[in-house]
Amino acid sequence: MIKPYFKSQDKNFYLLKGDTMDLLPKINHKFDMVFADPPYFLSNNGLSIQSGQVVSVNKGKWDKSYGFDYINKFNYKWLKQVRELMKDDATIWISGTMHNIFSIGQILTELDFKILNIITWQKTNPPPNFSCRYFTYSTEQIIWARKSKKVPHYYNYELMKQLNGNKQMQDVWKLPAIAKWEKSCKKHPTQKPLSVLTRLILASTKPNAWILDPFTGSSTTGIASNLANRRFLGIDKETEFLEISKCRKIEIENKETADLYKKKISGFNTAKELSNFLSKEPKPIEKVALGFCRKKDIPNLTNTNKFYFHAIEKNNFVQDFPTDILDAKILYLYQGGRGKPLFFTGHFGKIKTVKLKHKLQIKGKENSRTEYYYEIELENNFEFNEYQTKQLDPKILFEKNDKINKELLSKYLPTISTLNKVKINLNIDKYAGA
Ligand SMILES: C[S@@+](CC[C@H](N)C(=O)[O-])C[C@H]1O[C@@H](n2cnc3c(N)ncnc32)[C@H](O)[C@@H]1O
Repeated sequence: MIKPYFKSQDKNFYLLKGDTMDLLPKINHKFDMVFADPPYFLSNNGLSIQSGQVVSVNKGKWDKSYGFDYINKFNYKWLKQVRELMKDDATIWISGTMHNIFSIGQILTELDFKILNIITWQKTNPPPNFSCRYFTYSTEQIIWARKSKKVPHYYNYELMKQLNGNKQMQDVWKLPAIAKWEKSCKKHPTQKPLSVLTRLILASTKPNAWILDPFTGSSTTGIASNLANRRFLGIDKETEFLEISKCRKIEIENKETADLYKKKISGFNTAKELSNFLSKEPKPIEKVALGFCRKKDIPNLTNTNKFYFHAIEKNNFVQDFPTDILDAKILYLYQGGRGKPLFFTGHFGKIKTVKLKHKLQIKGKENSRTEYYYEIELENNFEFNEYQTKQLDPKILFEKNDKINKELLSKYLPTISTLNKVKINLNIDKYAGA
């Protein structure tokens, strides 16, 4: 089983430790957006200037270059794996410089992504050029691409325009390099500023979106995501960097610190603009879980507040991190199948907790072929409403592009839908189904 290195209490911030190439294929979750700040492979023993001091440009072993072929293979491998974890309408942002950006651009095209923009992040305070033989390096590129040529992506045009004095936001972003207050948990050698991440997150995601960073470092992506009410999973192989990430998340669990940081992030017209915008964003649609129940178990349901969901395994790995079931607020049960129509049983309840458990920890499931289950505890015992014993219509229960849940339902497995869809099916006004 893959366990997170760190899981925040609010379940909006997960960190995995290991090689991203090993972990990505084991993840059973689809993301709305990906930001990647991969190794630029520029640690070539060169020199630069920082705060008036001559310093080495070397960032660490992970950034050492072994030649163009190596860089290409590396980029192809992680980009192919990440693509599998993106929802059909998801987009990806990848930052780089001349050392890796051409490789990334070519591979994105090979893998059938559609490149949307190449943002030039112009640092307003770049370090001077040490050799005085070139122009000052003051920019980084950030490629924005979408997964599918055919499926449209989300772009918050109006907000971007507002941030640019009511004129269309351009692809050159003048934002400062990382500020002192962003280093409160020890600095990562290539830490990105929250201003850049906040802008691209707001431009390309809706509230509650799931965001992946396969090279998370100090998790600037995660901090910007959580400050903006989005959710986050980050991967890094270095404990030292994961500890910085963890420290940064714990820091913003304090509401006053989070509010202060929101005021300090550059790129907004006023200190309150970010918080004001976030407070007006629409609330996400509530998710509900649909659990399959055998006929013989139905009579006893109202005597219990527990239900077990199969933990769906990918490549034989069960994960203890983002899965849609953790989002579900209400559980509805269904029965039937095997040649007969599927029916809602009329049993439902408000979900209190969802815990991943091994079969040996569950009485009566010791001999099951399924190794892991999600134990769902309801706030009260199952309620029953006979008006909700309706035939289940898969056609109107899921979004058109939601192939995963449709397929799970056809195998009588746990599925996730949304309250608005279930309402159409069951004709209820509120969860209690009056
Ligand atoms: C450019 S840094 C990311 C910095 C980050 N954006 C921030 O704001 O802190 C790249 C990170 O990728 C990690 N890394 C490099 N190769 C990796 C791999 N194969 N698997 C997991 N992490 C890797 C490094 O440890 C490093 O922290």
